[in-house]
Amino acid sequence: MNANDDGLAPGSVITDPELAARILAAGGVVALPTETVYGLGADATNPDAIARIFDIKGRPRDHPLILHVADPVDLEDVAQNVTPPVRRLVEAFWPGPLSVIVPAADGVSRHATGGRDTVAVRCPDHDLTRRVLRRLGRSVAAPSANRFGRVSPTTAAHVVEDLGTSVDAILDGGVCRVGLESTIVDCTVDPPQLLRPGGLSAEEIESVMSRSLASAEGPSRASGMLASHYAPRCRIIVVDQAIGAMDAVLDERSQGHYVELLDPAVTAEMWAHHLYEWLRDADRRRVDVLVVVPPEDRGLGSAVRDRLSRASAGR
Ligand code: TXA
Ligand code: MG
Repeated sequence: MNANDDGLAPGSVITDPELAARILAAGGVVALPTETVYGLGADATNPDAIARIFDIKGRPRDHPLILHVADPVDLEDVAQNVTPPVRRLVEAFWPGPLSVIVPAADGVSRHATGGRDTVAVRCPDHDLTRRVLRRLGRSVAAPSANRFGRVSPTTAAHVVEDLGTSVDAILDGGVCRVGLESTIVDCTVDPPQLLRPGGLSAEEIESVMSRSLASAEGPSRASGMLASHYAPRCRIIVVDQAIGAMDAVLDERSQGHYVELLDPAVTAEMWAHHLYEWLRDADRRRVDVLVVVPPEDRGLGSAVRDRLSRASAGR
């Protein structure tokens, strides 16, 4: 099986969804654009292709992957016992930045689920990638297309930077609209748990479900919940008030560090859209310490704060 029968050099940036689908069908690994972040995609039914995802990312094999489907109705192909509340969620928000954890259909490869009998599924809101999925006719397993523990990519150039020629191709779909990973809701427990805040606010989900989400606990917790995830190389200090931020900046500077302050007057949506690019830029400029005044803790602001606190953990 040769993933590159089309004579492409590894790591090529492509724009043709048909070509991306052919490479996936042949067992290749292709970075795909979504509205949240770029994913590292492989045919979810092909264990060898899935194994390559784990190798390329340097990710532990028991960390489950999200399956991406072309259309909301395709949930039924990979899930079983889909309940009316889950159906309501999916109808309200797909395509969009919501992943639901549901009981996996028997046919779903346990290589993709990290050996679990539950599976994370989402329908991404990106036309190019939905065309790939339709043409392939199967779901695609895709974690974020970064090395394990690092900041997720929101442009094709970020993927080239992180993964280079270790992938068969990178489908360029422009800058990711949302800029943060999907919100993950575990619908196999009662009440449903918010495993990861993300591109869809918990408030919006709760209003459709007419009930509150519980916070994450127990064995279903997502691997992305590891404390030191989403980390740039620079050290991040999160300070709630602008006044405290100046103190932190001066203190770090007095210790001889190259310090920058991140305190933009923008909406939570803009924060989400730019956060990973700002963290990457700080690394590029060899910033030692980034002092950050985060957005308010609601809507997408909660997801931004979650990523910042993980980026600042364990240093
Ligand atoms: O926006 C996104 O969700 C992006 C794009 C590419 O779709 N994908 C993404 O995938 O962020 P990844 O692998 O970086 O994060 C998926 C998270 C992990 O923390 C994983 O542990 C959790 O989803 N997850 C997947 N399946 C699960 C399951 N069955 N039970 C609990 N957590 C699960
Ligand atoms: Mg990730």
